[in-house]
Amino acid sequence: MKTRIRTRVATLPTILTALVGLYAGCALERPSAPSVDPWDPPKDTSLPPDQSAAGSAPADGSATCLAPGAADAVPDLLSETGCYVNGAPSPTLVPFEVNAPLWTDGASKTRFLSVPPDAGIRVGPDGDFELPPGSVAVKTLSLDGHKLETRLFMRHLDGSYTGVAYAWDAAQREAYRVPDGDVLPEVGSDRKGWEIPSEGQCLSCHTAPSHMTLGLELAQLDRVAPDPDTGEPVDQLARLSQAGLFAEGAGPEVATGVAPLVDYRDVQQPLEARARAYLHANCSSCHLEAQGYCTGDMRFGVPLPDVGVCDEPPKQRLPEWAGAAVSLVTPGAPEASALLLRMAAEPGGQAAMPPLGRRRVHDDGVALVKAWIESLSDCSQ
Ligand code: HEC
Ligand code: HEC
Repeated sequence: MKTRIRTRVATLPTILTALVGLYAGCALERPSAPSVDPWDPPKDTSLPPDQSAAGSAPADGSATCLAPGAADAVPDLLSETGCYVNGAPSPTLVPFEVNAPLWTDGASKTRFLSVPPDAGIRVGPDGDFELPPGSVAVKTLSLDGHKLETRLFMRHLDGSYTGVAYAWDAAQREAYRVPDGDVLPEVGSDRKGWEIPSEGQCLSCHTAPSHMTLGLELAQLDRVAPDPDTGEPVDQLARLSQAGLFAEGAGPEVATGVAPLVDYRDVQQPLEARARAYLHANCSSCHLEAQGYCTGDMRFGVPLPDVGVCDEPPKQRLPEWAGAAVSLVTPGAPEASALLLRMAAEPGGQAAMPPLGRRRVHDDGVALVKAWIESLSDCSQ
């Protein structure tokens, strides 16, 4: 394949994205691969010889979606990964749903897994999944029924991981790798655009202390979800077991007593559980004890005193709080709670949390966490 390597002109959004990536700073940035302009892709789409281990898309549509041996063989076109065929997910992919999704500017998401036939996922004692080498997790983000990006999180044969985003073309038939991230202008009814994270930024959230993949854990997957063949609601973990995804003796049965996250959008669920599930999904990949770098441990199930935010002074005071008594969470006083002020802060600014991967404030998330802080009378829960 004639690889066209283009030197990108650093646009303002690119620089901002890079700065936000630095600010997040929770994970090592990888040197970025040569960039392919999604709106001016290479014309030659034949498979290069060094991608023999990657998935392929034979004419009968039975493509396999498996990770290439090493990061340098990740294809530039989504069709070359075998994960999507003619703009649709490969029939070999196994769909899954999570209890508490990451909120990404209101996008709807579909998620899939592909595990090599001769290998299996190992569930750890804390319920976290370890993917065997060769596996690919797939997430496609859409707005108004229009696919924007497909993200692949892969584990290579040498055990390393790569996160890659592919931006869809207007015809919705092909998607192009965007190693440095991008901002798609005018996207959304508010026309605020759409931010595709860089490959380095994937690893700011998909961190080693959170075991790289994030939704692939019992707390997220223990739920009822439709069987892809019949549409009937079934126990999702049992379905994944029957599909042969787990290694012998290392399936969900090894981790008993992991509490499932509630769906934070379900108003029938208790307020505290909804708020804590929200913080788990949207914040704890960076804010967890093992990370050491980011404040607190926001995982679901960590008792409130150990979360490290309630009545705790902020490490960073922002200029706009001058003179105000602010702690990270002040029971009963959302207006004096830095955690909430940061969630409500305009994305792109210094205060905004999460610091990347969105261009909008999540009003429902802010309302949920506000109601929870209002409901707290002290830090003992
Ligand atoms: C702001 C933090 C954040 C960033 C940035 C991010 N992710 Fe994720 N990602 C998550 C969370 C949290 C989940 C699990 C919840 C969900 O899927 O809604 C997830 C789930 C996924 C999944 C499904 C498998 C899994 O781990 O649960 C894939 C695939 C994925 N992300 C790929 C990527 C890629 C590729 C990038 C970079 C282009 C990226 N992500 C950037 C937070 C992030
Ligand atoms: C991509 C990683 C990442 C994600 C996701 C993330 N944060 Fe942060 N957060 C950081 C970093 C880095 C800092 C600065 C270091 C610090 O003070 O913890 C920070 C700082 C903070 C602070 C200030 C802490 C202090 O002591 O001053 C709060 C509060 C906070 N984040 C809340 C949240 C909340 C709430 C969410 C989810 C809605 C979230 N963060 C998601 C990386 C992240």
